[in-house]
Amino acid sequence: MKQLDLPGQTHVAEGPLDHTGMYVMHHAFRRDLARFAAAATATPLGEPDTWAALSARWDRFTHVLHEHHHAEDTHYWPVLHAAVSARGTNADRAEVTAMSDEHAEIDPALAALTDAFRAMGEHPCDDHRHALEIRLAGLRELLGDHLRHEETVVLPLVQRVMTEDEMAGVELAIQKGYRLRDTPFMIGWVTDGLPPAALERFFAFSGGPFKLLYAVVRRGYARREQRAFRHADPLGATLSP
Ligand SMILES: [Fe+2]
Repeated sequence: MKQLDLPGQTHVAEGPLDHTGMYVMHHAFRRDLARFAAAATATPLGEPDTWAALSARWDRFTHVLHEHHHAEDTHYWPVLHAAVSARGTNADRAEVTAMSDEHAEIDPALAALTDAFRAMGEHPCDDHRHALEIRLAGLRELLGDHLRHEETVVLPLVQRVMTEDEMAGVELAIQKGYRLRDTPFMIGWVTDGLPPAALERFFAFSGGPFKLLYAVVRRGYARREQRAFRHADPLGATLSP
């Protein structure tokens, strides 16, 4: 099965298991951080509404990232761990453990950024902007390293040791974890900026009514994005830190 190769992605783990869901999520995390970094620098201090929109949008980002890591720690890595015990090596086991350890390191950086966005909303000034920029650069490096580790080492490992049945069980458990009320945002969010062929691939992968829902939600999603990121130049926001 030919896997997706999206902007910013560090490796393509070819193999029998479909990693579409993981690759589109990683693409969206990188895209978001590039936009937040551009917005943190370019948004004028005298626009409290835009800073409030950015802070609210940041809360969305942290929620999705927390959910993604929680789903992996709860549903994905335990199954991979069992598969490694049955069909892998001790070195493989260490890589799986590293995934949850890295998640734990990312959490404090997210919390500090939530405070930094709030500070900008309450008292916009150059000092708060610089603090925000520095923390965003730090998180881009930290999350970038984690996503690279997962893409270059762990997803190839998944291809080597997990069965199609195990993978199907993982996907199902993760999908059940999404809150229904997040669906409109999530559809806009996960598809935003995907090249056309990848978008079609995602619709085929997700099945069901996703393509129809996408047609319904995309305008509202784009309008809200514009409110928060109106000063972030999407062409200047490259996907690698
Ligand atoms: Fe992931």
